[in-house]
Amino acid sequence: MLIKLENITKNYLDDGEPTTALRGVSLNVAEGEFVAIMGASGSGKSTLMHIIGFLDKKTSGQYFFDNEDMGDFDDAKLAEIRNQKIGFIFQAYNLLARTSIIDNVLLPTIYTPHLDKAAVEKRAYELLGRLKLSHRINFPPNQLSGGEQQRAAIVRALINNPRLVLADEPTGNLDSKSGQEVMEILQSLNDEGHAIVMVTHEKDVAECAKRIITLRDGVIISDELVANRRQAKDGLIR
Ligand SMILES: Nc1ncnc2c1ncn2[C@@H]1O[C@H](COP(=O)(O)OP(=O)(O)OP(=O)(O)O)[C@@H](O)[C@H]1O
Ligand SMILES: [Mg+2]
Repeated sequence: MLIKLENITKNYLDDGEPTTALRGVSLNVAEGEFVAIMGASGSGKSTLMHIIGFLDKKTSGQYFFDNEDMGDFDDAKLAEIRNQKIGFIFQAYNLLARTSIIDNVLLPTIYTPHLDKAAVEKRAYELLGRLKLSHRINFPPNQLSGGEQQRAAIVRALINNPRLVLADEPTGNLDSKSGQEVMEILQSLNDEGHAIVMVTHEKDVAECAKRIITLRDGVIISDELVANRRQAKDGLIR
């Protein structure tokens, strides 16, 4: 199993009232799955994504990633696993301001041992082309539109060919054409065998996945396979 969460809880203990964001979430995600997470604002979706990507610590419960108990590892080891095996498409994912798009995109690869530089650059140009960024390769992010910056961040998330892609509202800030492009990319990545866990508010985007999980107040209230899966290339609006 790629992801195995057992009775995960998460409490935030800030200055004011403590908040319980997750109240006992158990979830298995196998290699090659494509899962959409839905649920109202505040239901715990982003919290769950942060825990799956070991960006934040659970309060209780157990988390096995790729059959290893994440509770056994220190932050340095978690960072290493994260860099090698997980790609993040999060809205708050910032690009380096004074660095060209191509260098931003290639940034995660500088930690990769035994890198085939030519292959990775080819992959970068290919992905940049598919997300309509070929003409922006040598520009810094502050000369790009918001949508272009987000697409560049997506290319950067995919550059290491991660086993798992975590996407928190990957189409959220995009026009429908770019959103469709992003979903096409995610579906073809999944066809190539990458597991994807994606948060979305949009039903038609969720139906591009193979399985939809719904959270309410920090618990999973439904977990269903998608009967009529959408192919993003046919358009997202039916
Ligand atoms: N850093 C934090 N400190 C305190 N409370 C937090 C923190 N992050 C999230 N929360 C709270 O935890 C709960 C779940 O938040 P979370 O961000 O996971 O929701 P979400 O489902 O992603 O919502 P949205 O759809 O609006 O993005 C909310 O009540 C939120 O206010
Ligand atoms: Mg969120």
